[in-house]
Amino acid sequence: MAITTCIFDAYGTLFDVAAAAREAAAEPGNEGLAEIWPGLAQDWRRKQLEYSWLRAITGAHADFWQVTGDGLDWAMEAAGLAGDEGLRARLLALYRELSAYPEVPEVLSALKQSGKGTAILSNGAPGMLADAVASAGIGALLDDVLSVESVGVFKPARKVYDLVGARFGAAPGEVLFVSSNGWDAAAAAGYGFVTAWVNRAGAPVERMPWRPAHMLDDLTGIPALAEAG
Ligand code: LAC
Repeated sequence: MAITTCIFDAYGTLFDVAAAAREAAAEPGNEGLAEIWPGLAQDWRRKQLEYSWLRAITGAHADFWQVTGDGLDWAMEAAGLAGDEGLRARLLALYRELSAYPEVPEVLSALKQSGKGTAILSNGAPGMLADAVASAGIGALLDDVLSVESVGVFKPARKVYDLVGARFGAAPGEVLFVSSNGWDAAAAAGYGFVTAWVNRAGAPVERMPWRPAHMLDDLTGIPALAEAG
């Protein structure tokens, strides 16, 4: 089946989630972060994702902006930074304008030129996704930005992946789904999408019942995969 539609996860896949802590650490007054920002970024991301899964399982949905703030509060307390409201506000502001990975504009342009549908499918709340897309300047290269907020549950609930077929009218086997999150790539493969896991960190494959069809180091190989089907 030919690929008609290419769907991207947002955070960690198009946008560099470590950029907020890394950039804050480089700012005057934040010298204390120089040594600890990688651990802070890692804890922040891990707790953000854990809270998304816990909220999905228990039915206690709150949007991803809330979950992102909650994850940051946990990570700051673990790092001995609880109560630093200025730093908290700065990190959250930087999260609204995360850098895109350098190959992103070229990859999306190539997909558009070959006539593929392109969209983001993300846990992100619509406002935070709109800010990230605008600051990366990639809005014109995307047909849509799909947020889980329209179904009120986080990935990897199947209802979220259903948004792609509803928007593009594509069968799962016509969709190339791209994520840097091993768990998202595994669940999307289980759903029936042709899945590419962008494994930038060289992490072990998730021990889930489903494996991604493709594994890449970054996004540059995506247009060729979409052409090959
Ligand atoms: C997203 C998170 C999971 O963008 O990275 O959906």
